[in-house]
Amino acid sequence: MAKSEVIIAPSILAADFGAMREAVLALQDGGADWIHFDVMDGHFVPNLTFGAPMVSALRPHCTLPFDVHLMIEHPENLISDFASAGANRITVHVEACVHLHRVVQQIRELGCSVGVALNPHTPLEAVRYILPDIDLLLVMTVNPGFGGQALIESMKPKIAEARLMIEQDAPHVLLQVDGGVSPENAREVVALGARVLVAGSSVFRAPTPQEGIRALRFALVSQKA
Ligand code: DX5
Ligand code: ZN
Repeated sequence: MAKSEVIIAPSILAADFGAMREAVLALQDGGADWIHFDVMDGHFVPNLTFGAPMVSALRPHCTLPFDVHLMIEHPENLISDFASAGANRITVHVEACVHLHRVVQQIRELGCSVGVALNPHTPLEAVRYILPDIDLLLVMTVNPGFGGQALIESMKPKIAEARLMIEQDAPHVLLQVDGGVSPENAREVVALGARVLVAGSSVFRAPTPQEGIRALRFALVSQKA
């Protein structure tokens, strides 16, 4: 795929929570394609972040698609709130859904694009029979719950295998990689098959978020080996 087709979805988990509106405006100004919301409930993952009110608070200030990553138990109880708040895409974890096919249908009925996420240990086989029904597959390359972690090297072959599964069974599905993505590894992650890159700390650790996004895009097009 052309490197320019790669979707950059910065995670606001790494932003200053005391200036979230400014952070989202900076991401939009910097050419982000989506805004990634990392929703955590302190049960599915050992961290607590924000809920649908954060989405609704930021919705009037940003025209970009809101990509909501639900790291929560029983996501079926809250997907309607996130859809009403202005989420464009809702991703749930296969590990959190006893009846995933039904949750996927519920998200679609709410008018949102549907994503399914896999924790690092979860085999791709877990999504084989749901893949044709979703729009996005999120391969976690860190253990969910925190930003600033290093990409787990053993996830690289999983990205490549996910790309193969998508091309064989559901070529419409976007392959999203989330966790430890930076200008140092973005080119390789895309070469393995990622189409959507989530990056939190590498964007917000840069002097400005705009520069963080620019560094990612430059890494994708620069010729260095
Ligand atoms: C981790 C989240 C990721 C994380 C990415 O649970 O799902 O989106 O915030 O942050 P970095 O890019 O810092 O790994
Ligand atoms: Zn995420």
